[in-house]
Amino acid sequence: MSTLDIIYVTVMLAVLFVVLMNEYYSWRLKVVPGPSMPWARKKMVEALQKHAPAGGPQRIMEPGSGWGGLARAASRAFPDAQVEGYELSLFPFLFSLTGTRKHLRFYKRDFTQADWNRYDTILCYLTKQLMSDLSAVWAEKLPPGALVISNAQPLPGWTEIDRIKTAIGGVETPPIYVYRKD
Ligand SMILES: C[S@@+](CC[C@H](N)C(=O)[O-])C[C@H]1O[C@@H](n2cnc3c(N)ncnc32)[C@H](O)[C@@H]1O
Repeated sequence: MSTLDIIYVTVMLAVLFVVLMNEYYSWRLKVVPGPSMPWARKKMVEALQKHAPAGGPQRIMEPGSGWGGLARAASRAFPDAQVEGYELSLFPFLFSLTGTRKHLRFYKRDFTQADWNRYDTILCYLTKQLMSDLSAVWAEKLPPGALVISNAQPLPGWTEIDRIKTAIGGVETPPIYVYRKD
């Protein structure tokens, strides 16, 4: 085997490992680590600018922060806010660490174990089932006045305070839902 062959086989095995790990976590967590689209992220940040209390959000949580793009966009828009992302899928989590900045932290943790009452803002892009699971948890544990801004999925049982359309090239894409805890 030549050196080139060894490099080729090593790279192929590494790629296969990454793909299999992503498949494993997608199966275990029942959601693929697909990132929110840049135009949707932009609308989510605009929604936060519109609905955040005077002085801006203090502690933002992104459950299932994936590759980190949404949390980074929020941190850029609100550099004084503490932004935390929880992600279990290994490679998206490792990638997210490449973009940390002051007041932005990513944790390889299960968000179902989060201490929700620490956050005044939730940004999320999750599945219908996860949103359904989280609606009761957030109703009980988020502090009064907390904002929930969800890409594409509504929060069952909550009354939205805003719904923002998104589109790319004139084609409508799923909206952003905004809620405020009573
Ligand atoms: C659709 S992706 C969203 C990625 C990111 N929020 C974004 O907007 O770009 C959902 C993510 O949730 C993660 N996830 C699902 N259940 C989780 C759990 N219990 N704890 C931590 N992460 C979880 C998945 O691994 C996946 O990366």
